[in-house]
Amino acid sequence: MSSIKPLNGIKIIDFTHVQAGPACTQMLAWFGADVIKVERPGAGDVTRSQLRDIPDVDALYFTMLNSNKRSLTLDTKQPEGKVVLEKLIKESDVLVENFGPGALDRMGFTWERIQELNPKMIVASVKGFSDGHHYDDLKVYENVAQCAGGAASTTGFWDGPPTVSAAALGDSNTGMHLAIGILTAIIGRQQTGKGQRVACAMQDAVLNLCRVKMRDQLRLDKLGYLEEYPQYPQYPQYPQYPQYPQYPQYPQYPQYPHGTFSDVVPRGGNAGGGGQPGWVLKCKGWQTDPNAYIYFTVQGHAWAPICDAIGKPEWKTDPDYVTPKARQPHIMDIFATIEGWLADKTKFEAVDILRKFDIPCSPVLTMKELLHDPSLRASGSIVEVPHKERGSYFTVGSPIKFSDLKPEITGSPLLGEHTDEVLAELGYSKDQIGNLRESKAV
Ligand code: COA
Repeated sequence: MSSIKPLNGIKIIDFTHVQAGPACTQMLAWFGADVIKVERPGAGDVTRSQLRDIPDVDALYFTMLNSNKRSLTLDTKQPEGKVVLEKLIKESDVLVENFGPGALDRMGFTWERIQELNPKMIVASVKGFSDGHHYDDLKVYENVAQCAGGAASTTGFWDGPPTVSAAALGDSNTGMHLAIGILTAIIGRQQTGKGQRVACAMQDAVLNLCRVKMRDQLRLDKLGYLEEYPQYPQYPQYPQYPQYPQYPQYPQYPQYPHGTFSDVVPRGGNAGGGGQPGWVLKCKGWQTDPNAYIYFTVQGHAWAPICDAIGKPEWKTDPDYVTPKARQPHIMDIFATIEGWLADKTKFEAVDILRKFDIPCSPVLTMKELLHDPSLRASGSIVEVPHKERGSYFTVGSPIKFSDLKPEITGSPLLGEHTDEVLAELGYSKDQIGNLRESKAV
């Protein structure tokens, strides 16, 4: 394993806070970039103090999004602070920020000014909405973005309200998109010698992950129905189906209270989003354990093994079951039958049986199970890292694995821990640093 990391030598001014920006710069730090987190003196990133589990110690919210970074406190609204930032810009490769709209400009660091200071600079921003969007003045947090990007309207159950995902589709997902943009701009700069602006709007990053839901909207516009959704009625073979409400003689499944499609993509509960129907199924103990479930997928070509696995060999040749199209109208009855088979098996036992039949499935895992999963510990996806005030903390490590790079996760910095060090690297003497401290610029 090489000790040189691919991003060694890339210096990043990390002007980010909360989650979207910090997730991006943390990943770049894991891969070798020198990430200097610039924080307001005395306060720092708001997540340092949000949802604390230990009084007066950086909260896990902060530590889990800011490992491998250095922290410089700097008031960039003070003239002395602006001078420090100017020096830093001249020496850095990338500035990443996720302030509210216009904040960097109000600070005096417009794109034009930054280019004057360093034409090679890459300025990367996360905002809620893209530049010029009719909502581009809005401040945005995670769930706002999930609503704006199409995730909420398509998540949840048809008889419930729009629902947000626990996964940070608005925040960390946007940070990951931005990281791809930054790396692309770094490679572009190798060809042109020039920096550029990179922006990723949270709405766009969510929408990018909701691509298949947009696919469904386009299909719905054309067909009037979506065959893989639970709203699909019992008698899809009738070509008049788009006008289905006119045919009340065809009873609908009681579990699909709508039973018809409107002109927008509905919430599909736990339905599989692709051509493979799937559902969350109850296992032994579901009555008392809210996570005694597995996700079960009915992959088209795996139908025969599924029938064998669940003890229904006769379904292999039954015309009502033999093709995916034939199965679709009664897919929920098929899932109910599988649930019957699962009734005496824990989620882990079930998966151990089903894996032998090559059936795509997984236990529904809790955060506690994931935290203690030996495989995740062994792969470095869950790591324990030292921290100066906490002792140590667990965090989620790099989800990306390399053959010649092992991201080594180090603790998050204390507020201003590297202020003197970074200022000295910029050429400030001890006395000058003392003056900056006195004026509260750092
Ligand atoms: N020195 C001096 N001023 C600083 C500073 C520093 N080191 N760091 C931040 N500030 C100032 C900013 O310049 C800004 O000033 P102004 O708006 O008065 O001109 C002020 O602090 C507030 O910054 P802002 O980013 O607007 O913070 P907020 O707490 O009001 O809003 C968000 C938080 C997340 C809603 C907002 O930053 C936002 O919409 N960001 C873009 C989208 C985003 O990333 N959201 C996801 C967050 S996970």
